[in-house]
Amino acid sequence: MTTGIDYTAGVSTKPPLSSPTRPPLPSTGVRPRPDGTILEARNLTKRYRLGNRDVDALKGVSLKVRRGEFVALMGPSGSGKSTLLQLLGGLDRPTSGEVVLDGEVISRLSDTDATRLRREKTGFVFQFFNLIPLLDVYENVALPFTIAGTDPRRGEAAARIREVLELVDLVGRERNRPDQLSAGEQQRVALARALVMEPAILLADEPTGNLDYATGGEILDELWRSCDELGQTIVLVTHDARAAAHADRVLVVGDGLIRDEIELGRRTDRDARPLIDRLAQLGL
Ligand SMILES: Nc1ncnc2c1ncn2[C@@H]1O[C@H](COP(=O)(O)OP(=O)(O)OP(=O)(O)O)[C@@H](O)[C@H]1O
Ligand SMILES: [Mg+2]
Repeated sequence: MTTGIDYTAGVSTKPPLSSPTRPPLPSTGVRPRPDGTILEARNLTKRYRLGNRDVDALKGVSLKVRRGEFVALMGPSGSGKSTLLQLLGGLDRPTSGEVVLDGEVISRLSDTDATRLRREKTGFVFQFFNLIPLLDVYENVALPFTIAGTDPRRGEAAARIREVLELVDLVGRERNRPDQLSAGEQQRVALARALVMEPAILLADEPTGNLDYATGGEILDELWRSCDELGQTIVLVTHDARAAAHADRVLVVGDGLIRDEIELGRRTDRDARPLIDRLAQLGL
């Protein structure tokens, strides 16, 4: 079909968020206050059956995430962070307890409705990118549109894809396949794909886990910007205090429970020192 207007030519109304010519972020001033709960966990437990042994990965986790808030989940390996993130995003179901995502109780939904809710409301960034090797950058980012049956080369879909490619600074790389990109670029593709449907919540599991320091820092800056400038709600799983220092609030997960909560507030410097000091005080 060639009817209708082609919206794809230079329609982005927002300035590219990561272009070198962008003005610097304001260092002072009023920042939007997160408001209202968008995601809630109520007494979540998760028991995995491993051979003839039970593993209690979560032992009763309750938390609330406010709209527009950036929350980091920190904790040692095996403490239950990924399990919790998967439950929060509706990728898996709890053994008991409830997840309320933007007003809907996921556990009360059918599998079909839970999948619909997940696709509509969440974007996921996995530790190991999960890009499709045979698709190029554009097609990988466009995948959620393709799955939804929308032509990603036309209209608003194309405009939105261009916008997120600008956000993660990948304009000009659209035709590259994942194996023709650096690790950091691949992770930026994964981030663009997670954000393309404008999800209410972005859930990211160690998105900088296997990137070098500088590239990881770029990804974190993109995440922080999408939160601070676009009001994106983010839940980030990380081992790394430097990554967690980008968050407004850090929840410390230990042995299947939330052990501590550290309120950092929205800061422009993202200095990790206060968080590291606080973790040291807690003996972590
Ligand atoms: N599919 C599964 N089947 C059985 N046990 C599992 C499964 N997934 C996770 N576990 C167990 O649940 C516990 C929590 O795992 P989880 O992956 O949530 O930890 P994590 O905090 O994300 O760790 P890491 O930092 O190493 O990624 C671990 O003891 C793990 O072995
Ligand atoms: Mg994990």
